[in-house]
Amino acid sequence: MKIIIINGPNLNLLGKREPEIYGDETFEDFYFLLKKKYNTIELQYFQSNIEGEIISKLQETGFTYDGIILNAAAYTHTSIGIGDAVKAISTPVIEVHISNTFSRESFRHQSYISPNAKGVIIGFGLKSYELALKAFL
Ligand code: DQA
Repeated sequence: MKIIIINGPNLNLLGKREPEIYGDETFEDFYFLLKKKYNTIELQYFQSNIEGEIISKLQETGFTYDGIILNAAAYTHTSIGIGDAVKAISTPVIEVHISNTFSRESFRHQSYISPNAKGVIIGFGLKSYELALKAFL
């Protein structure tokens, strides 16, 4: 089974970015442990701060991979382009968020990803990614 985690803008700062909201673990540390725990899965990780790069990665993986775990971060709330890419591909996408976006500012309540996602996992910290992985399994 081939799964990719795609992370959007500012998620490369996890560990030092607003730790009261996003925790103090880096994504690299979390990903290392996740990969070790689920070592039978072909798991990959991609992060970009650039909208077009996220769209290109969705296109590149979205017809051959078994699943995509997508945290488009702030682009979730703004990007029709990423939403359209999720709609265009055939690989199922699970949208994840670390924080509970519905308990935060109202601009975070809107998602251009959700309508075309297979499912959405929100608010469980980095555990949201593992829950998405389990859903694919
Ligand atoms: C986030 C929530 C978004 O609103 C925010 O812009 C992020 C991270 C999350 O995982 O909680 O950068 O996607």
